[in-house]
Amino acid sequence: MRQSSLVLVANRLPIDDSQAPDGACEWRRSPGGLVSALHPLLRHTPATWVGWAGGTGPAPTLPDVDGVRMHTVALSAEDFRDHYEGFANATLWPLYHDAVEQPQHHRRWWEAYQRVNQRFAEATAQVAEPGAVVWVQDYHLQLVPGLLRTLRPDLRIGFFLHVPFPPPELFMQLPRRAELLRGMLGADLVGFQRAQAAHNFAQLVAKVLELPATDRRIGVDDRVVRIGAFPVSIDTAEMAALASRPDVAARARRLRQDLGDPRQVILSVDRMDYTKGIEQRLKAYSELLATGDVKVRDTVLVQVAMPSRERVGQYQILRERIEREVGRINGEFGRVGEPAIHYLTQPFDRAELAALYRVADVMAVTPLRDGMNLVAKEYVAARVDDDGALLLSEFAGTAAELSQAYLVNPHDLEGLKQGLRAALRASPEDVTQRMRAMRAHLQQHDIRAWARSYLRALDEGGALVSRLSSTDGGPEDGARVPRPASPADTAAAQQASG
Ligand code: ADP
Ligand code: G6P
Repeated sequence: MRQSSLVLVANRLPIDDSQAPDGACEWRRSPGGLVSALHPLLRHTPATWVGWAGGTGPAPTLPDVDGVRMHTVALSAEDFRDHYEGFANATLWPLYHDAVEQPQHHRRWWEAYQRVNQRFAEATAQVAEPGAVVWVQDYHLQLVPGLLRTLRPDLRIGFFLHVPFPPPELFMQLPRRAELLRGMLGADLVGFQRAQAAHNFAQLVAKVLELPATDRRIGVDDRVVRIGAFPVSIDTAEMAALASRPDVAARARRLRQDLGDPRQVILSVDRMDYTKGIEQRLKAYSELLATGDVKVRDTVLVQVAMPSRERVGQYQILRERIEREVGRINGEFGRVGEPAIHYLTQPFDRAELAALYRVADVMAVTPLRDGMNLVAKEYVAARVDDDGALLLSEFAGTAAELSQAYLVNPHDLEGLKQGLRAALRASPEDVTQRMRAMRAHLQQHDIRAWARSYLRALDEGGALVSRLSSTDGGPEDGARVPRPASPADTAAAQQASG
């Protein structure tokens, strides 16, 4: 078994085993923000990615993807049902997103979660060379850091949660809350999207496990586990380069024509998930149509909603409700050849997405709760002419960074309508000023800056950053400057371990 000095562990591999329309097997990019963020980061790095390939049954052997070794972990049909669809996506996912849908609890799901986490830990232990850095991702694998530390105490282990970490009053509902916290504390560094999440985690650890904890450090046995906020990002330069390509610009012009040359195009791009606020957005749009604030020939809404977790009941119900509402709105407000909403459920390649971003005068990203939301960042990166209005939910992690967006509370229907109206009617000067500031932020805070800050904190000495390839990164990629421990860190460490 070949071993690596850098191992990334995520439930999903960057490619997914899916069925082509003719029934044949094909590989395509996996859905979701985690893969969008990490895939460009690892490209051409001598690393191994441990993950699941999207099907059930024996693990397929995959070729390297962009120079990264793929190590597949198999999920049986039962694991898929009880671990992936069950504990991960019907217990943890809704609970971590403000319980906007009711989290479900079944003992069988917890057993599957433990079993699958153990399998991931064992697979990782096999492919990690002595002293390797292992970076475990997301809520599907919260037990892996602890299990891996038992199997391989020589490893440097990081854990990063891509989704929100809930406040104590919600997390306390989990029957196995202590085990989940202990699992995460197997890591040397536990990273979150936002400082509030790190604070929630520290409070819970102090309350449930009775360990000394600050928002930066936790004392566990004879170790100190560091915690912190590391807002994930995108490959800003890559998206900007894609959006600047002449063929993408031409495609955007064509799309506008195909949409009937409206004065304004509103775009939303979501995984079809109840956290994304799609229904609330449709309602706001439909009320604006009803009052005549928005007119069909003038303005169109393009809603891309890629089906996700399709066998989970809450997702099936959501899809039915969205499709009924799109049908109702088009029936009521559309004209022949001029629908009010262009509704698309297909996967698009990156160039097509970039063209869609370029065509959108207003991008509506209004989740009820979102760990980050990379679609918002992709849109900003693609607006290479410094135009385009971003309507953004206060409840997306992105809002903490892109504060120049038109911010809205998606739970407030009137506020949502007002925000949409404001974005549609904003002056070009206002739009440009805001977009310029947001683009400048993302140029600095891209996916490589994220990885560097995380790996530096994991390492405290700085040498780990060099394990990322510098071959296709920006000019800063080779930076190796260690982050010195601040006096506040030292004091917190003493407090946590004392
Ligand atoms: P989440 O991780 O919850 O899905 P994000 O907004 O963080 O939400 O990430 C979604 C990612 O999936 C983005 O990179 C986006 O470009 C991609 N994506 C969304 N819809 C599609 C689609 N229809 N085709 C291809 N990629 C998509
Ligand atoms: C979110 C999660 C990821 C997940 C993605 C797609 O981004 O944080 O871990 O991979 O959604 O969801 P899926 O269930 O298709 O993996």
